[in-house]
Amino acid sequence: MSIAEKFVSMEYGPAPEDSKEAVAWLDRHGRRFGLFIDGAWQSPAAGEYFETLDPSNGETLGSIAQGNAADVEAAVRAARAASPKWRGLTPHVRARYLYALARLVQKHARLLAVLETMDNGKPIRESRDIDIPLVARHFYYHAGWAQLLDQEFPEHEACGVVGQIIPWNFPLLMLAWKIAPALATGNTVVLKPAEFTPLTAIVFAELCQEAELPAGVVNIVTGDGSTGEALVKHPDVDKIAFTGSTEVGRAIRGATATSHKRLSLELGGKSPFIIFEDADLDSAVEGLVDGIWFNQGQVCCAGSRLLMQESIAETLMAKIRDRMNTLRIGPPLDKAIDIGAIVARVQLERIQRMVAQGISDGATCWQPQVTLPERGFFYPPTLLSNVHPTSIVAQQEIFGPVLAAMTFRTPREAVELANNTVYGLASCVWSENINVALHVAAQIKAGVVWVNCTNLFDAACGFGGYRESGFGREGGKEGLLEYMEPKWFKHAPKLVTPANLPDAAPAEQLDTSKPALDSPAIDRTVKLYIGGKQARPDSGYSMEVRSPDGRLLGEAPLGNRKDIRNAVEAARKAEGWAKATAHNRAQVLYYCGENLELRRGEIVRRLAESVGEKQAAAEVELGIQRIFSYAAWTDKFDGAVHNPPFRNISIAMNESIGTVGVICPTQAPLLGFLSLAMPLLAMGNTVIAVPSEQYPLIAGDLYQLFDTSDFPGGAVNIVTGYVSQLLKTLAEHDDVDAIWCYGADATVASAKAMSTGNLKQVWTNEGRAIDWFDLKIAEGRWFLEHATQVKNIWVPYGE
Ligand code: NAI
Repeated sequence: MSIAEKFVSMEYGPAPEDSKEAVAWLDRHGRRFGLFIDGAWQSPAAGEYFETLDPSNGETLGSIAQGNAADVEAAVRAARAASPKWRGLTPHVRARYLYALARLVQKHARLLAVLETMDNGKPIRESRDIDIPLVARHFYYHAGWAQLLDQEFPEHEACGVVGQIIPWNFPLLMLAWKIAPALATGNTVVLKPAEFTPLTAIVFAELCQEAELPAGVVNIVTGDGSTGEALVKHPDVDKIAFTGSTEVGRAIRGATATSHKRLSLELGGKSPFIIFEDADLDSAVEGLVDGIWFNQGQVCCAGSRLLMQESIAETLMAKIRDRMNTLRIGPPLDKAIDIGAIVARVQLERIQRMVAQGISDGATCWQPQVTLPERGFFYPPTLLSNVHPTSIVAQQEIFGPVLAAMTFRTPREAVELANNTVYGLASCVWSENINVALHVAAQIKAGVVWVNCTNLFDAACGFGGYRESGFGREGGKEGLLEYMEPKWFKHAPKLVTPANLPDAAPAEQLDTSKPALDSPAIDRTVKLYIGGKQARPDSGYSMEVRSPDGRLLGEAPLGNRKDIRNAVEAARKAEGWAKATAHNRAQVLYYCGENLELRRGEIVRRLAESVGEKQAAAEVELGIQRIFSYAAWTDKFDGAVHNPPFRNISIAMNESIGTVGVICPTQAPLLGFLSLAMPLLAMGNTVIAVPSEQYPLIAGDLYQLFDTSDFPGGAVNIVTGYVSQLLKTLAEHDDVDAIWCYGADATVASAKAMSTGNLKQVWTNEGRAIDWFDLKIAEGRWFLEHATQVKNIWVPYGE
């Protein structure tokens, strides 16, 4: 074929990347790799190895050590031993190590990119131009945070030893997302790479040696799910950070429930890719190519659900099919390849199975006429149309190059369809009308919204999910905070409840032998507070409430499952509270503070019967101050604008979480309640609060306070009763977005365990005692950070 003919046909010849250096690296190690523990290479304790393959041809690349519990034990011990010294280094010295790692990644970029492609099957164009540069960027960015740590976070401290488990879709990039912030904040690390793709993590361990990182600061233990499980269950690990399937995320939530390990989970997604009729369709199609065919669609934030406005559906589908015809699928080391190999046979079979299921659910399947390579695991780009929103291919993560297309008519319907998923990781909105795009972006329940762009990532911009896509963020300041705790919290003593006031004990266990108080004899019976109204409990029963010395003080309703359900429904209806302006919310909070001031005398008098006069007076005084504090924060705890190294801005919004169930502490019945409910309300959440089981009468004073303060009905609800029962209903309710649980160990553990099924985010005191009377610790950013979740909206600029 002549050059002129080639120019017309646009045929490419093969353009393979040179793999010599990577092959030499494999050979130099005899194609057998050990574990990196305490700065040295070790054989696995059980002497077992498994093979890692090149998925584009099925050939074995090398034997990898299968770490077991003994290896994990050795690695955790090394990380623990290295921890004090690493944490004690000056920020500048730690910054220099991170900087050195960034430089070394750049220096070895070619080896890393080629090995990544060989081990994972992704096109070299992607590993070379996206994965590895982002890895370097992550270390540079976090070298910066390491340098600034003491200035910016003087009150924080590293978690300690961190266990990190990563998937196979972006092996080195996920390592960087995990290790860079952990090291920058002074943690030491045990990381387990995915079994399909361990090679670049092994090179990274060598880079740690080259950078002369102190032994034990980074440990790499290769292995399969059982190795990960050993790490998760190790008692001396302070935090687990996981990226992978929702199923394993759920198992990890369950396995860590009874421990005090901090947990961040980055799980699956079924991200909507919304195209409005006024979008630049050609750009949107290019975005879509990136959204679903990047990395063979094996991307947690892949735009796998195409939602297109009905009026353009036909034109758009034709354009998509045309573009799909030009996608090149083949050996991933070829520089002109768009779609490489699927990571492993099991993943390929999973994709095949799900597509077959989608077709039998009624979807129409279209694939371009491509010849797949004879060897290796390949799957053609696939377009499924006529997909019903309830079909498995519209609901479940396929993790392959498969797009499920649906239509919508109005922006409102687009939002409904977009949010019709248990996930909430990412989304794309394409429209030339910025008003429509941002309006829709605000309503999508996802951690990232890309407006007129797709799959942009930067170390400065947090990434992470809503709902079953997990909790916690990676990147940005919010990602950094996942690896630190306030010093006071880290060193807070264990919560000890007086013997006669066991945390969350059934009220009938209290000592009732003392006679009831003679005077006043007026029966004090409080009610539940649901949807802005006082309500009788569904059960019709109430519990006696007694003072610590056994006097009968009154009765509080025994709320049950039905009452919680009613409260959740009311809270959902009050979602408009989140949309009220911050100024308006602040006014309501100030008014609430004023009203507490007006009732100061009577509330102190009543509360004194439970906690004594001195504490009652302090609780009310500080309660007023706390309400004023959060009224002040309401219009100040706002987001940020990032300037990533693209022609984009990323708007980081502090969004409310939604409806939050709050289990209030016993220690300060009024002040504890206000300290938890107020930051949530200030940030626009709706609240279902369960007051202290021992002192529930406070509910009566509180609802009068809320009633007279202009909170919309349902913004705050109060259900009294047995904490263990109410907590269970709250935790298992799919319409409750988060649980805040402040109690002793057993209550905290059950909050986490009960929230495993729907992967609810749970924030607790980890069984530690909180001094609610100490202004420096019991209010402020720590609470506000947990009352919000960051959504990053990316907006491009320029023509
Ligand atoms: P996976 O969740 O099993 O693997 C992720 C990591 O977790 C690996 O390092 C694995 O060894 C480890 N692991 C497995 N079981 C564990 C356990 N019980 N405790 C601790 N660690 C454990 O993902 P898998 O099986 O490789 O892929 C299955 C599906 O998961 C994919 O088809 C895809 O839908 C989804 N997935 C999602 C990812 C994401 O980034 N959201 C990444 C990888 C997979």
